[in-house]
Amino acid sequence: MKLLFLGPPGAGKGTQAVRTAERLGIPHIATGNMLREAVAAGTELGLLAKEVMARGDLVSDDLVIAMLEDRIARPDAATGFILDGFPRTIAQGEALAERLGDEALDGAVYIGVEDDEIVRRISGRRTCPNQHVYHVDDNPPEVSGICDVDGEALVQRDDDAEHVVRNRLLVYREQTEPLVEFYSSRGLRIHPVNGLGDLDEIEAAIAATLDI
Ligand code: AP5
Ligand code: MG
Repeated sequence: MKLLFLGPPGAGKGTQAVRTAERLGIPHIATGNMLREAVAAGTELGLLAKEVMARGDLVSDDLVIAMLEDRIARPDAATGFILDGFPRTIAQGEALAERLGDEALDGAVYIGVEDDEIVRRISGRRTCPNQHVYHVDDNPPEVSGICDVDGEALVQRDDDAEHVVRNRLLVYREQTEPLVEFYSSRGLRIHPVNGLGDLDEIEAAIAATLDI
């Protein structure tokens, strides 16, 4: 299965895409995670992306498309994948369609959440260096400040300050939301899912609409 997870920053795409990918036994491919790894490793891509991400703007299409194409060419993605955070512009959507052929995607899950809740969620988000995601109130680790999975210290992302989140929301509305119309007009099935509520219930709603 080849799926997209769409929705605004902080909607829970990463949280839910990991769960759906585990159910399906396919990789969760998140361009934001890949870019943060490049920044942490200090690669050429990371150096180019660092400032842009800290402002909440989008990294250039050319760089992100090349990175994504390399990733989906790896053997573990041969039978399917979940894309989280890609495509983010119409140009990226067109590049993906060209790479895969239009009918290759099976659907898109759209997770919807209101702006004020997004800001609340993102201000309480904590992540570990291996990109496991928590929320101080809604999804806390067993030991405060420590990742349940790998014991690493949890930190706040550089782009999670409120003024950066507001810019990410603007960028989302201008550049990414038009992809919903782009895909509907091409006949891709969009599965709208209410992103408010219990994590397990949202996971079950996604599984139900995808019939998995
Ligand atoms: P990226 O990492 O993709 O960030 P994003 O799209 O802004 O989304 P987030 O990761 O912030 O939110 P999410 O929906 O995954 O929510 P999460 O599950 O963490 O991109 C970062 C940057 O990289 C971009 O700004 C850009 O610069 C660059 N970039 C990435 N891809 C790019 C591309 N294709 N092109 C160009 N540039 C690109 O949940 C959020 C919080 O809420 C967590 O704390 C979580 O625990 C909590 N939570 C989740 N679900 C619930 C719930 N149901 N109830 C309560 N709390 C919840
Ligand atoms: Mg994410």
